[in-house]
Amino acid sequence: MLILAATALLRQEMSQPLPLVPWPSHVEAHAGSFHLDDATVIVVKGREARENAEFLRQSLKSTGLPLKAAGNANKDFIVLQVVKPTPDLGDEGYRLDVAAEGVKIEASTSAGLFYGVQTLRQLLPAASYGTVALSGTNLDVPNVAIQDRPRFAWRGMMLDVSRHFYVKGEILKMLDMMAAHKFNRFHWHLTDDPGWRIEIKRYPNLTKIGSTENYDTFRKPKDGQNHGGFYTQSDIREVVAHAKDLHITIVPEIEMPGHSGAAIASYPELGVWNQLRTPDPWAFDSSNLIAEESTVKFYENVMDEVMKLFPSSWIHVGGDEVDKGPWKKNARTQELINQRGLKNEEELQSWFIQQIDHYLTAHGRRLIGWDEILEGGLAKGATVMSWRGINGGIAAARAGHDAVMSPTSHMYFDYLQARQGEPRGIGGFVPLESVYSYEPVPEALTADEATHILGVQGNIWCEYIATPSHMEYMAWPRGCALAEIAWSQKSDRSFSSFIPRLQVDLQRLDAAGMNYRKLDQGK
Ligand code: ACM
Repeated sequence: MLILAATALLRQEMSQPLPLVPWPSHVEAHAGSFHLDDATVIVVKGREARENAEFLRQSLKSTGLPLKAAGNANKDFIVLQVVKPTPDLGDEGYRLDVAAEGVKIEASTSAGLFYGVQTLRQLLPAASYGTVALSGTNLDVPNVAIQDRPRFAWRGMMLDVSRHFYVKGEILKMLDMMAAHKFNRFHWHLTDDPGWRIEIKRYPNLTKIGSTENYDTFRKPKDGQNHGGFYTQSDIREVVAHAKDLHITIVPEIEMPGHSGAAIASYPELGVWNQLRTPDPWAFDSSNLIAEESTVKFYENVMDEVMKLFPSSWIHVGGDEVDKGPWKKNARTQELINQRGLKNEEELQSWFIQQIDHYLTAHGRRLIGWDEILEGGLAKGATVMSWRGINGGIAAARAGHDAVMSPTSHMYFDYLQARQGEPRGIGGFVPLESVYSYEPVPEALTADEATHILGVQGNIWCEYIATPSHMEYMAWPRGCALAEIAWSQKSDRSFSSFIPRLQVDLQRLDAAGMNYRKLDQGK
C-alpha cells in the first residue's frame, strides 16, 4: 500500500510541469533532486562565469548559504562554465543539468549563463525571491536536463514615464523582474507632451521647465500630487549599469516631431505657433516641432548626450501621431515644405526623421520609431515598431527593414484586463489570454521576410496610471505571458500548461513585493 501510494505521489509530482516561466526549449525531468546547503560551492570556469556567480550569490542571499567559491568539486557543486559557441546555444542559450551531486550550467556567453542562473532560481522555492531570511526551507532542486535558447532576439517592455513619473528605484525593481523572465529590452519613453524626464546638460530648461507638468491638468482635475520629476544623468548611468548586469539593453525614446509639448514649453522656438504665445509655457497650441534646420540641430545635440548615456544600438525617436493640422495651417511650415521640394506634411515628417536617421547612423546607431515613420517614406536604416495593428511590421519586413511587433490588440498593457471591476484606465481590453494567444510573426510574411521580425514588446502607457503599484498591476502577470511568447518555441505554447506554472510564478512576484492582477477565479 505504502509503496503504491509513494509511487502515485511520485507520478503526480512528475506530471506537474516544472514551474518555469518562460518554458524552455527542451526539458527532461528526472527523478530525485540536488540539495543546496552550507556545503554547496560555486565553481567558476571562464571570465564571464565570474559575474554570473556573483549574481547567483546575491540572488540567493535570503537562503543565508555561504555559497563559497571553489576551484573544483566532485559533489555539492554549482558549476558555471563557459563553453565554445555552438549553433544550438546561439548568443543567449544555455544548458542546465541538475543531478544528485550538483548543478552544471554551460553557455558560450555571459547572457546564456545568466539565463541558466535565472532558470535555476525558478527551480528553488519562490520565497527565495524575497529579502526575508529563509529558515528551515527545503532547498531541493529537482533533477533535470534543460537545453534552452530564446525564439526572439527582442523581448521587450516599454514604460511611459512622461505622463506619470516613476522614481529610479521603481525602474530598477521592474528591470529585476523583467530579467527574471528573460526580457532583454527596456524601452524607456522618456519624453512626451506632459513631461521631459532626462537631464540634458546643454538644455537645462528641458528639465527645469519641461519636467514639471502633471498630466492630470490636461484630462482631469489635479489630484493634488506632484507627478513631476526627472532622472539626472547620474541616475541614468546607474540604471543603465544595472540593466547591463541583467543583460537588458535600455532603448531610450526621445519623441519627435510630435508629442513634443514639454520640449516646446521649455524652448518655445522649437514649436509651431499658429496663435499668440501666452506667458504660460504650457499653453503651446500644438505639440508639433517646427521643422527648421535649427530644430534638427537641437535634437542632434540632445542625441549626443543620449548616445553618451545609452550604449544601445537602437535609439527610439517616436514619430507617432503627428497631427498634420497645425503644420497645414502654419505659413513657415508650408514655406519649408516648398523650399525642400516636399509634397506634403507626411513627407515633411519623413524628412525630419531622415535627418535624425542620418545623424544616428553616422554615429554607429540605429533609429527605431513607431509605424507612422513609414508614412512619406521610411528612413534608410530605420526599424519599425508596429503598434497600429500588424501592417506596419508587415510593410517594414517586406521592404527589408527590421520590425518589432507591439500591436494595440494584444500588447497594450495600459488596456484593461477585464470588462468590469478594474481600476480607472484608458479603456480597451487586453486580458491575459489575449496576450498569451499573440503570435508575433504575421502569417502574411514569407520565411525570408519573417527574419526581419526581431521580436515582440508590451507597452505600459501611463496617462491613467499614477502610482507604482497600479503600474505593476498593469504589467503583471501579462508580462509573464509576454515573456513566454518572446522566449519559448511556438510549438510549446499552451495556455493550460502556462496557468499552473504561472501560479507558482506569482508566488515569486509576491516574494519580490511586486503588485500584480490576481488570476480570475477558476484559473
Ligand atoms: C502610440 O501608442 N502612440 C505609439
